[in-house]
Amino acid sequence: MTINPVFTDATPITALDAERQFLDDVLTGLSAPQKFLSAKYFYDAAGSDLFEAITRQPEYYPTRTELGILDAQGSAIAAALPERATLVEFGSGSTVKVRRLLVHRPDLAGYVPVDVSESFLRSEAEALAQDFPHLAITPVAADFTRAFSLPSGLAEGPVAGFFPGSTIGNFEPPQAARLLEHFGQVLGSGATLIIGVDLVKDRAVLEAAYDDVAGVTAAFNRNLLVRMKQELGADIDRDAFTHRAFFNADASRIEMHLVSRTAQTIQIADRRISFAEGETIHTENSYKYTIDRFRALAYEAGWEAGSVWTDPAALFSIHALKRP
Ligand code: SAH
Ligand code: AVI
Repeated sequence: MTINPVFTDATPITALDAERQFLDDVLTGLSAPQKFLSAKYFYDAAGSDLFEAITRQPEYYPTRTELGILDAQGSAIAAALPERATLVEFGSGSTVKVRRLLVHRPDLAGYVPVDVSESFLRSEAEALAQDFPHLAITPVAADFTRAFSLPSGLAEGPVAGFFPGSTIGNFEPPQAARLLEHFGQVLGSGATLIIGVDLVKDRAVLEAAYDDVAGVTAAFNRNLLVRMKQELGADIDRDAFTHRAFFNADASRIEMHLVSRTAQTIQIADRRISFAEGETIHTENSYKYTIDRFRALAYEAGWEAGSVWTDPAALFSIHALKRP
């Protein structure tokens, strides 16, 4: 099953194109035998806020653990970046992590945050500019899985990438490899990539992280239904679906689904889509790696392994990769 198509097309350039693309992807996904939607559609303005709220839940260990690694070892991690590099962050979201690198590297020439969540991208870039007034910041609103070029007028010099948060885990391994290859092409030969990767661990810890007691992850998952209703006029009720998250150990991934509470038919555009009671829409995968498995995937995509940093409990890893 395909959850996240990688660079099949050019990026939609207008709001109308983006809406058309959303409709096409929803209709394609909901017509498949196992219904699915791309996880990138979680992130409108409300979805970005919900994701930030997830990162503050006690069960969601990845963000605070990765921040802990950056706090403890940020100077060594930042030292992996070439001098006077321009740093491109893929799926930047909140700028809380890149700040931990920037404080160690006042020599960096520029910062290019890339994200699909446009209003959040702009407000975060503005806040960063207040705190780092000498850094040239060029936000790019784009789907990083699709063909896109870096903005013109960047400073001469090396380009490096930053991809924290284990967003790579939201892609199936072959697509993750293609995405890393794509980043290599965007960044150019000789580039460095600093990437955060969540590690395999105890099932109970993993499942709690994706089903917090406060119900924030459930609201994040259901935000897809809210978007379908608001943006596509779907006659769909968010309360007609429940949130389910479980660890699929064979595939080494958390799966998130929306489960239809009853047999129901929904209408989207001119299409009617039926659900049996208990039938699911597969909305997200979050793959968990060992260090060696991730290095092998990166190697397949043309990246050589450099240093790797973890927390004392080995919950999360940050890798430096180099493209020869
Ligand atoms: N890097 C941040 C945010 C992780 S959440 C952190 O580590 O906390 C994932 C981010 O990637 C969100 O901000 C989301 O809007 C963005 N994103 C998801 N899919 C994307 C895509 N295909 N193209 C661009 N941005 C994407
Ligand atoms: C962005 N991404 C790495 C998150 C994850 O953990 O897979 C998205 C998320 N989904 C549910 N909770 C958080």
